Amino acid sequence: MLLQVRDLHVEFRTHDGVAKAVNGVSYEVDAGETLAVLGESGSGKSVTAQAIMGILDVPPGRITGGEILFQGRDLLQLKEDDRRKVRGAEMAMIFQDALSSLNPVLSVGEQLGEMFVVHRGMSRKDARAKAVELMDRVRIPAAKERVGQYPHQFSGGMRQRIMIAMALALEPALIIADEPTTALDVTVQAQVMDLLAELQQEYHMGLILITHDLGVVADVADRIAVMYAGRIVETAPVHDLYKAPAHPYTRGLLDSIPRLDHKGHELYAIKGLPPNLMAIPPGCAFHPRCPRAQDVCLTDEPPLYAVAEDGARESACHFWRETLRDA
Ligand SMILES: Nc1ncnc2c1ncn2[C@@H]1O[C@H](COP(=O)(O)OP(=O)(O)OP(=O)(O)O)[C@@H](O)[C@H]1O
Ligand code: SF4
Ligand SMILES: [Mg+2]
Repeated sequence: MLLQVRDLHVEFRTHDGVAKAVNGVSYEVDAGETLAVLGESGSGKSVTAQAIMGILDVPPGRITGGEILFQGRDLLQLKEDDRRKVRGAEMAMIFQDALSSLNPVLSVGEQLGEMFVVHRGMSRKDARAKAVELMDRVRIPAAKERVGQYPHQFSGGMRQRIMIAMALALEPALIIADEPTTALDVTVQAQVMDLLAELQQEYHMGLILITHDLGVVADVADRIAVMYAGRIVETAPVHDLYKAPAHPYTRGLLDSIPRLDHKGHELYAIKGLPPNLMAIPPGCAFHPRCPRAQDVCLTDEPPLYAVAEDGARESACHFWRETLRDA
């Protein structure tokens, strides 16, 4: 297994109190596999990713428990120096907003080339040739002519391709893409997502794809982990989850996807708001919003129940059987 996150806990200490952002998250990603991480805003998707990458905002953030095993080593035990070597070379991250992640005063060629100069000791000239090669790989037209241009001279979709090229440069074993297409318009979104999926296959990388758009992941992900209030509430192979969710929250997310064949129908929305992370409800954190909640849900926190015997599916709902049956 390439990456194993085990029982990860992250808190933020602020003057208002302690926000429990990640509360015992475990997930795994293998080489060549895409895990989609899904959930509403504030569910802890990015914070988990930042903990894996070692870019958590500390303080106010603090990892209070768990392990992050990457190629067998626990990253949380590494010294910052060793951690830095892992970052970029062995795992890389793609963010939503390329414009704020790229340096505005360096040409894209210089930024791409820098990776090879710093990490591989290449000459500037060779690094520039590598930059052109990478721009070709992510299908930026006229790469040779555009290598000297600055980030603002590229469209949003092209900038996102440059981010993908930066992430791929050193051929890392793992890429974490945090809402990589959210800022783009719909047709460009699909192109960038297809490109990412294709390169991931070709390089046989593990990919964690963070999104709150269930529509995007259907074609590209192998498995899905659904997060709520800093916990995983359901994991499943992607097609099983679409066919029949085993958690009422997943059901709600699926029902809120806009569908072309339902034009004119009112879109379903999960009632209520995500919980305050300084006061997560007892029992099942989802109970105030759950159409299926019973008395037991108010007091007993549901463990991750095995939905499939081989362990490929889990649901943190006391009533996963009924949810699955009614799907
Ligand atoms: N730098 C920070 N300082 C204080 N609290 C933070 C910080 N970053 C995250 N948090 C807390 O962690 C919670 C989870 O944040 P996270 O960014 O992981 O959400 P997310 O699931 O990625 O949501 P989104 O879909 O909006 O990106 C936030 O709601 C907030 O309470
Ligand atoms: S445990 Fe109860 S409240 Fe939580 S999702 Fe299941 S039915 Fe709803
Ligand atoms: Mg986020």
